[in-house]
Amino acid sequence: MAESLTIADGLSKAEQYRSLLPQIEALIMGEDDLVANLSNVSAALKETFDFWWVGFYIVKKNELVLGPFQGPVACSRIQIGKGVCGKVAQKQQVLVVPNVEEFPGHIACSAASKSEIVVPLFNEDANLVGVLDVDSDQLNYFDDADQNGLESLAKILSKLNWDE
Ligand code: SME
Repeated sequence: MAESLTIADGLSKAEQYRSLLPQIEALIMGEDDLVANLSNVSAALKETFDFWWVGFYIVKKNELVLGPFQGPVACSRIQIGKGVCGKVAQKQQVLVVPNVEEFPGHIACSAASKSEIVVPLFNEDANLVGVLDVDSDQLNYFDDADQNGLESLAKILSKLNWDE
């Protein structure tokens, strides 16, 4: 297994996701440690795309607890129902927020964060296990290509060893 990514130059964002996802799958399927895998997934996303912050919040005792991420330091814990991440965990549906200042209750971990997408993560038994949070320092950054790509990634991540 190669521990590097190959993404050709000049691809559209949808094509970048199509190229990246099988490489992520190959990277994580030979490893059963959750932290190792989530660390590599956040690094792969940060390396491929111009994201400001990308990382995981994991459901622990009915709260979201910060997991592996790439970017500036962030809130360690988010209550279910609070902020964008907490709303996604509560509703168990993806949220795309074009302007975080217009989202009631947004948790501003960084003033530089302007837009975000948060995708719920489920295990193979369809139980919520966490969320994938991606932030941009540009307004209105995330589009259908991101939503489709990150939802496809979430399906791959359902196979991880979430029980540890
Ligand atoms: N924006 C998130 C908080 C987490 S950070 O941005 C990393 C929210 O409102 O849920």
